Amino acid sequence: MRLIAILGFCLIASCTKTPPTMEKPVDRKDYHSYSNPDQIRVTHVELDLAVDFPKKVLSGTTRLTVERSPSYPTGPIVLDTRALDISKAESSVDGTTFTETKFEVGPNDSILGSPLTVQLSPEAKFVRIHHASRPEASGLQWLTPAQTAGKKHPFLFSQDESIHARSWIPLQDTPGVRQTYHAHIHFPKELLAVMSAENNPNVYERGSFEFRMPQAIPSYLIALAVGDLKFAPMSQRTGVYAEPSMVAKAAKEFDDTEHMIQAAEGLYGPYRWGRYDLLILPPSFPFGGMENPRLTFATPTVIAGDKSLVSLVAHELAHSWSGNLVTNATWRDFWLNEGFTVYFEWRIQEKVYGKDRVDMEASLQYDGLERELKTLKPEDQILHIDLKGRDPDDGVTGIPYTKGALFLCTLERAFGREKFDAFLRGYFDHYAFHSVVTQDFLDYLEKNLLDQNKELAAKIPIDEWVYKPGLPADAPHPKSEALIKVRGLAGDWIAGEVKIADIPTKDWVTAEWYQFLTALPEDLGPEKMAELDKAYHFTATGNDEILDQWLKMAIKNHYAPANSRLRTFLIEIGRQKYIKPLYQELAKTPEGKERAREIYKIARPGYHPIAVTAIDNILK
Ligand code: BES
Ligand code: ZN
Repeated sequence: MRLIAILGFCLIASCTKTPPTMEKPVDRKDYHSYSNPDQIRVTHVELDLAVDFPKKVLSGTTRLTVERSPSYPTGPIVLDTRALDISKAESSVDGTTFTETKFEVGPNDSILGSPLTVQLSPEAKFVRIHHASRPEASGLQWLTPAQTAGKKHPFLFSQDESIHARSWIPLQDTPGVRQTYHAHIHFPKELLAVMSAENNPNVYERGSFEFRMPQAIPSYLIALAVGDLKFAPMSQRTGVYAEPSMVAKAAKEFDDTEHMIQAAEGLYGPYRWGRYDLLILPPSFPFGGMENPRLTFATPTVIAGDKSLVSLVAHELAHSWSGNLVTNATWRDFWLNEGFTVYFEWRIQEKVYGKDRVDMEASLQYDGLERELKTLKPEDQILHIDLKGRDPDDGVTGIPYTKGALFLCTLERAFGREKFDAFLRGYFDHYAFHSVVTQDFLDYLEKNLLDQNKELAAKIPIDEWVYKPGLPADAPHPKSEALIKVRGLAGDWIAGEVKIADIPTKDWVTAEWYQFLTALPEDLGPEKMAELDKAYHFTATGNDEILDQWLKMAIKNHYAPANSRLRTFLIEIGRQKYIKPLYQELAKTPEGKERAREIYKIARPGYHPIAVTAIDNILK
């Protein structure tokens, strides 16, 4: 593809006689949106939506403010939708008088959904669409009271990244378009609604609420949740929303959040979004966290009771710079969001918890990447990944995250922390509230870092990092002294050189336990599993990260005493990072697959639509 682009360019270049030094053409097209923002662009979204729990429908109107490009004086606007019912389209010149206009919903593509083409007069500045979501909308999960902690009230939440906003809002669903938004949400009066916008924890109106997001954000960051929520403040600008039974525990777990913000600000400039709150979702939330601006959505599985999994907050917070302030313009630039965020997460953690903790987490993440590299096709090991014709969620692997972060570590190592930090801060400031493609970053890098020391720059295989599979030969390899010790002890125990009672586990943190388990051989056998369980009670652990690893081992080693815990875990938790590998492991044997199907039958109604699609695929 790149080759064709370059060849095509050379042809044009030779006939127009441009000097040979001119740069490569940059492909800014988002292949995951039908919209035409280069012709006519949405700048503001106005939502008026009612939440109908019995019907599982979110319906109402979306009014878009649009701006035509001078080169497109007439012609329709194309929006994205997926399984979204459209009943009427209107347009307006002044935003108050609307007249009905023609619209057409195109054929459905299983990944992209359907284009919605709306006819507009040359003068129209506003489009208003009347729409209703379907119960199976991929961007929404509707929970019955039984699926919540409190068991009394239903719950609704959205999850729009990568391209799920279009299943409940008709808009230009591409991260290359930024818009401010305003929303009027109507919901049952006993509940509370929150959005990725200004939430005022002190104003609580029953039954309807207005939200304002005054900063321009990409569509995948528009988020909504409605449920029986309580708020607990943590600092002047941070707090937690959660179901009443969870909120105190959550606020305690995450009370380092303010420190993290200050650490982040010290690195890369002021936090620009006003408040930073967390929303703890029911356990069916399919991800660890989602960086919805001003209001990170998080899984309850990170509440371990000892703050050992709060790197998730450092990560989602870091997105307030890398991702939300400077956004990947297309999904093939996803590493600009996640790689920068993992690097930034490590830096925040180092400031708040010290270098040893980061070394441990980075080392585990590196091991994970090495394992994953063995399973990924070469073309999927590339940072600037080609996702044309594929679901952008297919690009969510360790590559954008860990390889992306290691690339930045390489630059830091070469130029020194001070220079690199100044460079990154400049990058965030320069592109603040803009969406950028990989080439924008590379150009900025060249001009503001590489050109300052060409000798150093020549040693970094930039092209290999960004456009080639695998890891370059001199890639950093994070190591942790503490984990090296743990690996040694695991090996000694297996070799019979040390007894379980003599392993000094008293001060071990989660990362050390995790390393201990992952360092053991895959074919441990049920007796050794039983010995471990007797000594350390893994089957009963309250730490879901450890439990998940233990359960994977239990399946592999036919360790029956963990069966019932596996069953309840799969039924109660919907976080894909945990459940996907467990179902995959079960599906490896005919008996396992049968067991998996039997559990899934019960679990499926409680899973998020995207998790359902993933597990259906594993067990089909
Ligand atoms: N933005 C991602 C979540 C995401 C990515 C959702 C792509 C849908 C498509 C979020 O910031 C994230 O990376 N979450 C991680 C946790 C994090 C600590 C690595 C997750 O959910 O596992
Ligand atoms: Zn992330």
